[in-house]
Parts: sequence; C-alpha cells; structure tokens
Amino acid sequence: MQVNEYKPLIVAFCCNWCSYAGADLAGNNRLSYPADVKIIRVPCSCRVNPMFILRAFQRGADGVIICGCHPGDCHYTSGNYYTRRRMAALFSMLDFLGIERERTRLEWVSAAEGAKFAATMNDFVETVTALGENKRLEDLRCKK
Ligand code: FES
Repeated sequence: MQVNEYKPLIVAFCCNWCSYAGADLAGNNRLSYPADVKIIRVPCSCRVNPMFILRAFQRGADGVIICGCHPGDCHYTSGNYYTRRRMAALFSMLDFLGIERERTRLEWVSAAEGAKFAATMNDFVETVTALGENKRLEDLRCKK
C-alpha cells in the first residue's frame, strides 16, 4: 500500500551575497535539506517586495522564508534593516489575515553558515509540514 505523504511547497528568498552562498556551502558540504525548498536568488533581502510573499501564497506556497546577511553585514549597507522592518509589518498583517505566524520566517545566514542554512531549512520544513497545507490565500485559479 502506498502512503500519500504530504510535502509542503516552501519558497526561500536568499540574498546573493550571504544566504545564497550559505546554501551553496551547505551543498558543497553535503548537508541535506528537503528538496521541497525552492530557492529564489535576489540581490539583497530588501529586494523582496511584500507582494512577492503574498503572490507566493496565492500560487500555492505553504511557507515562505527570507534569508539575508546578518545585520551590519549587508552588501548594500542597510538593506537588511529595511527588510526587518518591512517583514515585521507584513508578518503581523498576515497574522491578522489568519495566516499562521510560523508559515513565514526571516533568518540571517552568512556565507560561512552552510550548516545553519541546512538546519534552518530542515526546521522550517518540519514546522510547515506540521501546519499542513496553506489554503487561506490560495488562488484557486492558479491551481494546476
Ligand atoms: Fe544580503 Fe543585503 S546583501 S541582505
């Protein structure tokens, strides 16, 4: 008998200078994290418009994580400070809309933290899997 195991769709926005390099390092060190994580490389975490996150949920994402450089290390000096403020506002708005707070996350991962990247993704996927499918913002017209 085949068991239909639920696998969440996770979208990870990673800044080019730190987090994406951290993901690369995780791969080079053969640290595993679930293949359900779809990485989108952005120049800086502040490039992530809150609309991208809403759109991801609308298109069927079960969880969205934004990864950037540690505060003070942003390649563009202060981009991640903007991200932190912007996401605090967005996450509280999503909470108000009834999207569980655990479905979104903001993490700082440097280029040297491959192990942290893998551990963060494993933990996030586990959390979202426990929550189940995200139906709140899903646009049924986007269903395949
Ligand atoms: Fe990484 Fe700005 S370049 S957060």
